[in-house]
Amino acid sequence: MAVQTIAWHGRDPGYVRMIEQTLLPGDARLLEVRNVQDMVDAIYRLAVRGAPAIGVAAAYGVLLGVQDEGERAPDELVALVNETADELAAARPTAVNLFWALDRMRARAERDRAAGADSPAILEGLFEEAGAIAEEDAGQCERMGEIGAELVADGMTVLTHCNAGALATAGIGTALAPIYAAKRQGKNVAVFADETRPLLQGARLTAWELMQAGVDVTLITDNMAARVMYEGKVDMVFVGSDRIARNGDVCNKIGTYGVAVLAKQHGIPFYVVAPLSTFDPSVATGADIPIEERPAEEITEGFGKRTAPEGVRVYNPAFDVTPAELVTGIVTEVGVIEHPNTERVEEALRRGGRL
Ligand code: MRU
Repeated sequence: MAVQTIAWHGRDPGYVRMIEQTLLPGDARLLEVRNVQDMVDAIYRLAVRGAPAIGVAAAYGVLLGVQDEGERAPDELVALVNETADELAAARPTAVNLFWALDRMRARAERDRAAGADSPAILEGLFEEAGAIAEEDAGQCERMGEIGAELVADGMTVLTHCNAGALATAGIGTALAPIYAAKRQGKNVAVFADETRPLLQGARLTAWELMQAGVDVTLITDNMAARVMYEGKVDMVFVGSDRIARNGDVCNKIGTYGVAVLAKQHGIPFYVVAPLSTFDPSVATGADIPIEERPAEEITEGFGKRTAPEGVRVYNPAFDVTPAELVTGIVTEVGVIEHPNTERVEEALRRGGRL
């Protein structure tokens, strides 16, 4: 593994160490996060980003908020877990892994309290739960890699959008996992990485991470995707997701929908790679998924250089929704959901114990 994106360290008190992703690729600096407010800030600023990594960060964020509170009564400790989780939940609205991980932490505290645990034991349980969230994520990445690699033949070229690699998870990534797995199997795989306007996760993160891992990567701007497809240079698309609706509609980084439409036009398979923790059974279709809007400055003066007139009106949605009908398949840790629809998504969720 080229990079360890996020990890918990120590117990006295413990803290979180993560790669400060806003500084990549120029500076691979580590950031130490020691309190809840700084974790909320790290998630909002995209110092840590990517749906599964945000989930892990949120679970660790709960630990930061309660680790020194073992003297409290169990009821008070559980109330503090819930307050801390509420604070963390406000960091970003779209990636459902954030809420999923926080719900796991809340449920664990409540379950242990109800079973009669004292506060130190409740804290122990929370450490165990956060560790399990990170470990399970890494395992799911491996599994999705193995399953997804079966779709990748020797010599193929994959196009990807945003960063759904190791930097977005606690393991080898989602969309990039099949590429790493295929490479491990000795297959030659090349990647076109979309730059991903406006925050350039493709250029800054995917290109960097794939180069670190020795993968053959070519960077293109987002508006070149149609051209490389037209030129017959793309065999398949792999993207990640921030939230998948019950009917298989896929929410991911802004621009993903356009890539899916282009893939359909050119007869190129469009695969989403995402763990079951990214599915949200409570939303029936993609129309119900909250889409984060980010500051105008990300577009008008991204990375410090003004590129639009002062005062111009800006619309900056950070995500879009790709309708299920454009999705060839969703690679999960329990298998591929081919041509997703409500019935098939529900069947996979049931198999994975999420329904
Ligand atoms: O705004 P970001 O960088 O958090 O957006 C990330 C994405 O859209 C990823 O594609 C998605 O979270 C999948 S990560 C495995």
